[in-house]
Amino acid sequence: MRVLLLGASGMVGGGALVECLEDDRVERVVALGRSSTGRTHPRLDEIVHRDLFDPRPIADRLGGLDACLYCLGVSSAGMSEAAYRRVTVELTEAILGAALEASPGLTICFVSGAGTDRDGASRMMWARVKGEAERYVLGLPTPAYVFRPGFIQPVKGVRSKTRMYRVLYAGLAPVVPLLRSVLPRALTTTEELGRAMLRVAVERPEQTTFEQRDIVELGRAI
Ligand SMILES: NC(=O)c1ccc[n+]([C@@H]2O[C@H](COP(=O)([O-])OP(=O)(O)OC[C@H]3O[C@@H](n4cnc5c(N)ncnc54)[C@H](OP(=O)(O)O)[C@@H]3O)[C@@H](O)[C@H]2O)c1
Repeated sequence: MRVLLLGASGMVGGGALVECLEDDRVERVVALGRSSTGRTHPRLDEIVHRDLFDPRPIADRLGGLDACLYCLGVSSAGMSEAAYRRVTVELTEAILGAALEASPGLTICFVSGAGTDRDGASRMMWARVKGEAERYVLGLPTPAYVFRPGFIQPVKGVRSKTRMYRVLYAGLAPVVPLLRSVLPRALTTTEELGRAMLRVAVERPEQTTFEQRDIVELGRAI
């Protein structure tokens, strides 16, 4: 399987990259981002392109791909609705539009978030905007899936880019095993999320939306 990975320089995408490189079914990872991951590996191709809103200059490098793990995204904290929508919806449309043109039939695994509102009725701006992105992804003429994690613990050396989150994750790390034993489906890890997306990309199940508990089960069952 040849995988296109978005967001590999971030926490969720960084975790997915680790799982791709550990999985023998993944023959090639094409990591597309505006920043480098800083990693090298015989099965990793990096495309660093500053303006992903205009993927035309790199479109010819997106052919022959089987699956896309879309882990690019931002927190809505401090953002206007227009600015958050631009990254969450418009950037997704630009990138997936170009990827599908070059690789028709690409299976898409899109990282959304717990509490996303696909009906557009939520009072929370981020939930409505993420919901719009989910509608776009699930409406594409290709196998498409959305993943809605809640709390994600970074593991296997993966780090958040945000200092505040790094402090939070480090502080919580000692209690994570206890939390997981008491509430096994309350939180997931970058490892489980990466594995869950790969499993879905390979198996293409009928279910198209995966909540936290589904992610934990899919990620663990490998
Ligand atoms: N972290 C969590 O606990 C959590 C929980 C639920 C859902 N999620 C969702 O998971 C997704 C990824 O979150 P994360 O924690 O991995 O975030 P992150 O560590 O901040 O990484 C974000 C990734 O998106 C890229 N990106 C952001 N804005 C971009 C832009 N305008 N153009 C190009 N690339 C851009 C970043 O690239 P640069 O490196 O170039 O900035 C980076 O690769 C988000 O959609 C988030 O809502 C996260």
